[in-house]
Amino acid sequence: MASWLTYDFPKPCCCFVNAPTLLICIATMLVIATEPLNQGSEMEPLRRGRVRLSVIASIVTAFGLWIGSARAESTNASVFTREQADAGRQSYTLYCASCHKVDLSGGPAPALSGQTFSTDWGKHKVADLYTYIKVMMPLCDGGSLANAEYVDILAFILSANGAGAGPQELTPSAGVTIGDIIAKKPAEPSTNP
Ligand code: HEC
Repeated sequence: MASWLTYDFPKPCCCFVNAPTLLICIATMLVIATEPLNQGSEMEPLRRGRVRLSVIASIVTAFGLWIGSARAESTNASVFTREQADAGRQSYTLYCASCHKVDLSGGPAPALSGQTFSTDWGKHKVADLYTYIKVMMPLCDGGSLANAEYVDILAFILSANGAGAGPQELTPSAGVTIGDIIAKKPAEPSTNP
């Protein structure tokens, strides 16, 4: 199948929309918009043409705004600061690396980067991962760190998976979906994360 047919438009729109659905939707709107004006309308031809043009113009404008807002949202997705990720690296090395490895590649414990991470956590919210880590980790010692340490470690894990830092501080209740902010192509575990 041609790749544009399976292209999924950016998530922030209210529902899942791929290219064919969108084309059918626009075509239907155009037919609906123009049809009644073609048949049995008593308007003069010139006025009829103007009405039809303005309907089409509003549809095109709405579509443009929709694409525009989707773009704006996807570039504005940083949820933690560089300072948090840096502090998180220290705590991670202290409390987590013994099992998950310094480069997050796993070993005795699951990898916290790359394909494993995006498969396990991509569909979940940042807040869900926070809760999991705080309750369960370090293994058998969940809840033993300060909340701020857990937040920083979470920022570090997101950062190591390709999520970008920004001005906004991470909080335990961040509602962003992890798959929307980590790198689409999972980052390879690096030796110096
Ligand atoms: C003593 C070893 C150990 C330590 C230390 C440890 N973990 Fe884990 N971690 C594990 C094991 C084992 C699992 C798998 C648990 C399971 O599958 O139920 C796991 C699972 C996880 C997962 C879920 C992985 C997935 O793909 O589902 C996350 C996230 C995680 N740990 C984060 C942390 C963080 C953050 C720390 C440090 C605060 C930490 N872990 C410390 C052993 C450890």
